[in-house]
Amino acid sequence: MIDLPKHDLLAKFDAVAGERQAYLDAGGRDPVGVVMSEVLSPTRAIIAGRETITMGTYNYMGMTFDPDVIAAGEAAMREFGAGTTGSRALNGTYASHRACEDALKEFYGTRHAMVFSTGYQANLGVVSTLAGRGDYVILDADSHASIYDGCAMGNADVVRFRHNSVEDLAKRLGRLPAAAGKLVILEGVYSMLGDIAPLKEMVAVARAHGAMVLVDEAHAMGFFGEHGRGVTEAAGVEADVDFVIGTFSKSVGTVGGFCVSNHPKFEVLRLVCRPYVFTASLPPAVVASSAASIRKLMHAPDKRRRLWENTRAMHAGLRARGFVLGTPTAESAIIAVIMPDQATTLAMWQALLERGVYVNFARPPATPTGVYLLRCSLCAEHSADEIATILTAFEDAAAAIGIDRRAAA
Ligand SMILES: Cc1ncc(COP(=O)(O)O)c(C=O)c1O
Repeated sequence: MIDLPKHDLLAKFDAVAGERQAYLDAGGRDPVGVVMSEVLSPTRAIIAGRETITMGTYNYMGMTFDPDVIAAGEAAMREFGAGTTGSRALNGTYASHRACEDALKEFYGTRHAMVFSTGYQANLGVVSTLAGRGDYVILDADSHASIYDGCAMGNADVVRFRHNSVEDLAKRLGRLPAAAGKLVILEGVYSMLGDIAPLKEMVAVARAHGAMVLVDEAHAMGFFGEHGRGVTEAAGVEADVDFVIGTFSKSVGTVGGFCVSNHPKFEVLRLVCRPYVFTASLPPAVVASSAASIRKLMHAPDKRRRLWENTRAMHAGLRARGFVLGTPTAESAIIAVIMPDQATTLAMWQALLERGVYVNFARPPATPTGVYLLRCSLCAEHSADEIATILTAFEDAAAAIGIDRRAAA
């Protein structure tokens, strides 16, 4: 036994650890311990020895197995090595990082693009650097953890408005000192319920109050808007949005984060943004694969169409089977199946896995208070057969654990 100090700093997590252990002791499968021993395609993997359809991977456009994306990564790995061993600000900027930023500039039609090591770090860095002590960040209550963490790191005053409420945003902006620096942060698609922001109205309100606007398009890049530039493109507000944050870990199919902008002073961020400066840059293979994927996503109307067809079919199928969903119609490629409590969510999650379907188990604090979800994300590469199999699995799993869907509906 290790002799623990009297004031064990991990003791504050005893309740969390105990709850998990009790669930595992009762024979439950661990929703945060899933291992994919083989990945067969963008929509299939081997989990616990069983071929499973994946519907919780954010691999919206199915780019992970694209031959051009893989070839670009292989070539860069051979040419530049496995990693950069350095910060973007020192020895960690290779030609492939610049090429990736060029691809982003072309994709978004912006003058500037800055690649970070993850989307989390992009939000952490950009939010904390833009909004410091004495400034105000005005954000949706349901904002992603990386946005909240960026606020905490920057020490700005944080003002939250009710999720997707234009009225509440206007009210709260109206109470702030006119001369103060203000950054309104929105997300194109909110990742828990899969609903989209009323960007046109919100951006207009932010502008009317003299605020700068940042939109996180993590879950919208690739398939919203004619060119896949996101909800900002679809809503026609690109000219009034100062900063777009995104990630490579969803539609692009790799890993990494970015910020694009037309702000004339944008490049100074490379000198002052700590989560950009004080971390190693992405491996050359990752940025080369990302650039190849971004360029393909510029010309992917068929994939966009297939993804919307799949999403609408899944949403309609789940609704027809009496499940309560996060949005009345399919607003994005995320479909949130709302569950009554944690125990039912876990039972349903496990029952689906036993039927060869993987979805995300989601609970607070990732979700809003008291909300338990089975979160499904569609892929352009899901086949009609896979969608039918998933729907049958949902029906069978609900029957097996005794969910009364008529009561829920
Ligand atoms: C809205 C939003 N922003 C940022 C991120 C962080 O992205 P990454 O996985 O690249 O760190 C996520 C990830 O889930 C997200 O949902």
